[in-house]
Amino acid sequence: MKKLFALVIAITFGIVSAIQIYAAGDPVKGKAGYAVCMACHGADGMGNNNLNAPKIAGQEPWYLERQLKNFKAGIRGADPKDTFGMQMRPMALTLANDQAILDMAAYVSSLPEGKTTEKTIQGDVAAGKAGYAICQACHGPSAEGSKALNSPKLSGLQDWYVVRQLKNFKAGIRGTKSGDMFGMQMRPMAMILANDEAIKNIAAYIATLK
Ligand code: HEC
Ligand code: HEC
Repeated sequence: MKKLFALVIAITFGIVSAIQIYAAGDPVKGKAGYAVCMACHGADGMGNNNLNAPKIAGQEPWYLERQLKNFKAGIRGADPKDTFGMQMRPMALTLANDQAILDMAAYVSSLPEGKTTEKTIQGDVAAGKAGYAICQACHGPSAEGSKALNSPKLSGLQDWYVVRQLKNFKAGIRGTKSGDMFGMQMRPMAMILANDEAIKNIAAYIATLK
């Protein structure tokens, strides 16, 4: 009986460590696949305003992994009103399996965060700061994100991209598909923002955070 118990423990640990090894993405393999992504997100992952592609360099690997899986599964980027998400979705479909996604996430998160992005919208930063009080519970006071709360880093994202995502969440273009448990946590927060002005103000404030 004791031997059996020891065996069960050994197998369990074996499986757990195997999962941990699997969970580590290989940035070198990810880099090879990134050739496809460069056209829109840039070789440095800084994004491209003209192509509507967000900055992804330096984002947390667990968030990148989740988004790539969501795009692939049609949890994000499949709504007919999601013009830009629909451009991204076929790209996620080029990633053959979960390991390829992990490798890609490891590579993209290893890219240096670089300079702050260019300001493209006018908003009332002071009003945005007041509005951000509710956001910091999950995204952190400097918008650094929180893995424990599944909330991504927002600092460094382009202001227009933050505006678009807040509008998408509010309109139910993002955060409503079944299986999108984290988008569903975010959606009510975007719905608190009364109008486009409030959205712009918050995005303008987030753009000041480092
Ligand atoms: C044709 C242009 C294009 C290509 C190529 C492309 N993307 Fe994207 N990507 C986009 C656009 C546009 C968005 C924004 C979607 C939205 O607004 O919801 C996006 C969004 C993303 C996001 C979500 C960022 C966030 O903060 O939530 C990730 C991650 C991403 N892309 C990674 C990749 C990877 C990895 C590749 C290569 C396999 C790739 N992209 C190739 C256009 C592209
Ligand atoms: C209850 C926790 C919580 C609060 C409060 C919250 N968020 Fe979020 N937010 C999330 C989660 C979780 C996600 C990730 C959704 C996903 O995985 O698609 C997210 C995603 C986002 C994104 C998308 C980032 C990207 O790269 O695409 C933006 C922008 C955002 N939040 C802004 C805000 C703003 C502004 C507020 C305040 C009005 C706010 N959030 C309040 C949990 C929260």
